[in-house]
Amino acid sequence: MTKVEALIRPQRLDEVKAALNDIGIYGMTVTEVRGAGKQKGFTQHYRGAEYTVNLLQKLKLEIVVPDDQARQVAEAIVQAARTGEIGDGKIFLTPVADAIRIRTGDEGESAIL
Ligand SMILES: Nc1ncnc2c1ncn2[C@@H]1O[C@H](COP(=O)(O)OP(=O)(O)OP(=O)(O)O)[C@@H](O)[C@H]1O
Ligand SMILES: [Mg+2]
Repeated sequence: MTKVEALIRPQRLDEVKAALNDIGIYGMTVTEVRGAGKQKGFTQHYRGAEYTVNLLQKLKLEIVVPDDQARQVAEAIVQAARTGEIGDGKIFLTPVADAIRIRTGDEGESAIL
């Protein structure tokens, strides 16, 4: 299994959710976070800004899927979240060792399908 972790603009959540639903993905965790990328949270640099980092509001989506679905999920997020402007966000893919559905005790992919 792979965890797809996407940092996106809050305004793109509805589009991203719809794109994921379209490919059969419903299970996800969404968290309000603050962060910065390579512009250090500024859309342009100005005197004095170099010594600080401005943390901007983003949403973090976490979606655990079977390995063979991870690329498709990431591509759906890219398409739905992109505006073409700086700050569109980032996606990280990480391996997941196991999953357990608490209600049933299902383990592994059975717990997420
Ligand atoms: N290296 C990183 N590690 C962890 N989180 C990151 C990293 N880079 C970006 N993020 C997260 O992604 C969010 C969006 O980053 P952002 O889209 O500005 O990345 P970027 O690399 O600066 O790309 P762009 O040039 O398009 O702005 C940040 O607010 C932060 O939450
Ligand atoms: Mg940036």
